[in-house]
Amino acid sequence: VDYRGSVVSTTIDQLETPQVLVDRERLIANLDRMQQIADSHRVRLRPHIKTHKSIDIAQLQLERGAVGVTASKAEEALVFIQSGKVPSVTVAYPLIDVMKIERLITDSQRHDVELRLVIDSDAGVTAAAAAAQRCGSRVRGFVEIDVGLHRCGVSEDDPRLLPLVTRIAAEPHLEFVGILSHAGHAYAAGERDELVQIATQECAILNRVRARIENSGVAVHEVSVGATPTALASETFDGLTEMRPGNYAFLDATAVRLGIARWENVALSIVATVVSANDHYWIVDAGSKVLSSDLGAHGTANTQSYGVAFTPVSANPLRIARLSEEHGWIERSGDANLRIGDRVRIVPNHACPVANLADQLVVVSGSNVVAHWPVTARGKVR
Ligand SMILES: Cc1ncc(COP(=O)(O)O)c(C=O)c1O
Repeated sequence: VDYRGSVVSTTIDQLETPQVLVDRERLIANLDRMQQIADSHRVRLRPHIKTHKSIDIAQLQLERGAVGVTASKAEEALVFIQSGKVPSVTVAYPLIDVMKIERLITDSQRHDVELRLVIDSDAGVTAAAAAAQRCGSRVRGFVEIDVGLHRCGVSEDDPRLLPLVTRIAAEPHLEFVGILSHAGHAYAAGERDELVQIATQECAILNRVRARIENSGVAVHEVSVGATPTALASETFDGLTEMRPGNYAFLDATAVRLGIARWENVALSIVATVVSANDHYWIVDAGSKVLSSDLGAHGTANTQSYGVAFTPVSANPLRIARLSEEHGWIERSGDANLRIGDRVRIVPNHACPVANLADQLVVVSGSNVVAHWPVTARGKVR
């Protein structure tokens, strides 16, 4: 019986569909591979849990050597802080709300968790300093550097950069810990070589910023990067102290398209059933409520497909061309023929939002169901 009282099936074939599956051996291999990359470059690994939102998977990452976790939203971070199983949490999101930061500090103190915040504005410094002061605490803060995604962070030539660092360093309730970046623009790359270039450029920017900050008299203890495409493609880790990849735990069709994974490395998939058919499409019971409508991370889609379906009737995966909320539209191609009732395995474009939409991850080994892991931090948007 699973955590909600449903009967646990013993094989994938016996599961009601659709279900989100995690292949245990592939997951472990992905976790081991990233830990080895981090260890071999003497960089600490602090995985982003936005991908799985699961305490069970975070524990596997910590057992392998991760120093803590990274989270996005305050509520998401609180799930891991309150679990009592994570020693250190970075909230890699520019929080500007004093109440949220206060909640994070209070619970970190209660559960003896090291808390690190990311700041990219004066409003962020003011909020973090006020919350830390109210809690009688001293909180560690990173300044985020924009290395090309143009989402959050200050770019290296932004005149706000040094004043921001100096202000954090001068605040009695804050401690400037270092600089942090996310090379999410790597998801728009056409091929692996471009990923190497982006990683090299990110490393160079951060080393220049570090030198400028240190020349101004403030020590930079951490230089933290984090994105799966650059982490898996990069050869350059000079000057970096930490990496925070997330997607590497599962991987997905985007990772395969970028050339950083093969289909057999992808740990997350959806088992779905063909419920209708016509001359153009096979219709399966997994639509956008399961697969999300995400064409790729950060809207950097280089594809017109919502994922691919592996079927017993076609050697190559078939394209999920359209989605309704409850229907996935598999494009008919070649002379392959699926029948109503047949099952397919879908590899989504982007695994992270799929986990966020699922109550539980069905853990499988071969064709057997071996565990059900709750997605404890799903839906934490505040
Ligand atoms: C700030 C930050 N760090 C790390 C990551 C992890 O990136 P990825 O899932 O590509 O490994 C993300 C993902 O969006 C992020 O926003």
